[in-house]
Amino acid sequence: MSQNKPKPSLQNRDAEPTVAAGGGVAWPFVMLGVVLFGCFLHVENSGGAFRADVYQSGVKLPPPMPNEPEEVKLYKTGAQLYAACAGCHQPSGIGSEALNFPPLAGSEWVMREKPDRLVRIILDAVEGPISVKGKTYDNAAMPPFRGALNERQIAAIATYIRGNKDWGNSASYVTPAQVKAITDATAKNAGTKWRATLLEAVP
Ligand code: HEC
Repeated sequence: MSQNKPKPSLQNRDAEPTVAAGGGVAWPFVMLGVVLFGCFLHVENSGGAFRADVYQSGVKLPPPMPNEPEEVKLYKTGAQLYAACAGCHQPSGIGSEALNFPPLAGSEWVMREKPDRLVRIILDAVEGPISVKGKTYDNAAMPPFRGALNERQIAAIATYIRGNKDWGNSASYVTPAQVKAITDATAKNAGTKWRATLLEAVP
């Protein structure tokens, strides 16, 4: 009886499909799955998942139109240029306590009636201890923007930061003429970062 059973053999091509025959076509699909999963992980890790605070800077607002009021043009241009600040102060303006970057959202340095302190900080930066919204920061990482950004660009960023209602800010817009006046008045300060104690004497 048992002698009549065919012996299992890899050479027996008439036998039922074996792993060698069936599995041979499966591996490209397995590889494709692995690659697609890798792509999915990449998108998941580097994408913003449509969060407003990730895409707020630059992407959310359309470019300014010629017929718009000056303050709207400045605001929209500032939204694009804010990329120069967002790496530290964050796209949402909240800064980072852990990394010692103070917030611009709700900052008393940003929200003053006059933009004189803010424009000075953008021109020549600030270092040393500075109190913002009740917390003290002390970090010399901020770079000066004098010469790197022109008067209109600085006015645009200042307008965007001061008027950003999504951040809870609602101060008046800043004109290129105001920035020019402050740039000229502080020319001798070029190359020296401000200290909060010195800025406190500025209106
Ligand atoms: C490389 C990081 C970095 C960049 C880029 C940067 N800042 Fe800052 N900023 C800082 C740090 C750090 C401080 C706190 C300095 C201190 O400790 O005195 C600061 C302070 C400030 C302050 C005063 C404190 C506050 O939070 O209100 C303002 C206003 C400000 N920055 C605006 C800007 C603007 C506008 C830009 C872009 C044009 C910018 N910063 C770009 C790091 C940065």
